[in-house]
Amino acid sequence: MNKRLLFAGLAFALGAGFAQSAMSQVKPEILVKQRQAAMTLQGKYFGPLAGMAQGKVPYNADTVAMNAAFLDALSRMPWDGFAPASKDATVKTAALPAIWSEAAKFKEAEENFQRAVQDLVKVSRGGDEAAQKAAIGAVGKTCGGCHQNFREKQQ
Ligand code: HEC
Repeated sequence: MNKRLLFAGLAFALGAGFAQSAMSQVKPEILVKQRQAAMTLQGKYFGPLAGMAQGKVPYNADTVAMNAAFLDALSRMPWDGFAPASKDATVKTAALPAIWSEAAKFKEAEENFQRAVQDLVKVSRGGDEAAQKAAIGAVGKTCGGCHQNFREKQQ
């Protein structure tokens, strides 16, 4: 077999492997774990920014830029974890049934959040502290807005 064919075959085998794992059913419990993990990391990287916006944490432009970039990626991650199949999960979850019974409203909350994160990303490298703090506040509102309607109240 010549080398080029060998590589083509290898690439095909790898590609097929990925496609197969993407299509196979992920267990509901895993979906719940993964979406909670993405949320936990959002909390990790958003927390310090919220602290800065509230004047509780010293402002740091580098942290704003870095955490905004992380949130850019993280804000895209949790949503496929709310697939209808995850309703059957037997693990502890704070997700409310409204996520599925009011799917359009949940989707809207998701989009409002992602838009707010994109606005933050845009100002995160400008060095304008006031604009960044305003954008951070706007993101925080969209986290809270969704939790208000779709997450069980935390005791
Ligand atoms: C569109 C809705 C929505 C948005 C926007 C959203 N969340 Fe959540 N969040 C949820 C839901 C629903 C849960 C409960 C998930 C579960 O327990 O299965 C959750 C859970 C969490 C948790 C607990 C995770 C765990 O381990 O149980 C944290 C922390 C969190 N969110 C932080 C955030 C932060 C910070 C933001 C904004 C930067 C945010 N969320 C934006 C819906 C949202």
